[in-house]
Amino acid sequence: MNNELEGGQPWPFHKFNENTDSRVVDDLTYNIRVKPITTAPKTPTIPQGRDTFETPNYAVDLLIPFIPKNIDFVWECAAGSGKIVNRLKHHGYGVYATDIRQNSGIDLIWNFVDPTAVPMFINYMRNMAIITNPPYSVKELFINRALEMDCPFAFLINADYSGLQINWIKKGCEKIIPNRRIDFITPTGRQGKTSASQFHSIWLTHGFNLGRTETFVELSLKEKKENI
Ligand SMILES: C[S@@+](CC[C@H](N)C(=O)[O-])C[C@H]1O[C@@H](n2cnc3c(N)ncnc32)[C@H](O)[C@@H]1O
Repeated sequence: MNNELEGGQPWPFHKFNENTDSRVVDDLTYNIRVKPITTAPKTPTIPQGRDTFETPNYAVDLLIPFIPKNIDFVWECAAGSGKIVNRLKHHGYGVYATDIRQNSGIDLIWNFVDPTAVPMFINYMRNMAIITNPPYSVKELFINRALEMDCPFAFLINADYSGLQINWIKKGCEKIIPNRRIDFITPTGRQGKTSASQFHSIWLTHGFNLGRTETFVELSLKEKKENI
């Protein structure tokens, strides 16, 4: 890019003349922003490929010590093939499994983010928590829906300091943060060494009464390798 414009002054000191400089401004824009900014579509009723990754056992095991002692029943509301369901059952919890997709391991097809629908059992299950790894593309809809339901929850989501996550903390959410990344099981079955997550994940909890907004937990390499 030639950064000296007509008039002899180098950019950005050049005085912009809107009649003559549009081509140059386009070039500058092109050079600065090589990739277009795109936002992936949200599809609350149709899961996308990136919404179907599954959770290794070690990620569930990190959460177990923090589940309040009065909770004995879990609603896994985006159950997929049942990885979290099976691990919670292994730890002694009763689990009700729903998903928007039919799958052999689920009890009911249910769109969790449908604002018009509340399952019957939520009214009388006092010792219940909602626990899942929500679909990546609509995780905020899941969290907002769970907040509306006023039921303790833990959602495994990517970690960041977006306005959304700051607001959830302001609404009383507390985070459990492992020292290593969770490597999810891909839709094609890759796991362990062959699946490396590109982001850090946390358990975002509400109603778990952890007493602080950030709790750090140890996730060993051995666990990541042997407890998938
Ligand atoms: C990231 S996967 C997690 C699967 C499982 N919970 C696990 O961790 O192994 C998210 C799941 O959410 C389901 N899903 C997507 N949109 C949904 C919705 N609106 N209501 C309920 N389930 C949904 C997908 O079908 C998918 O099985």
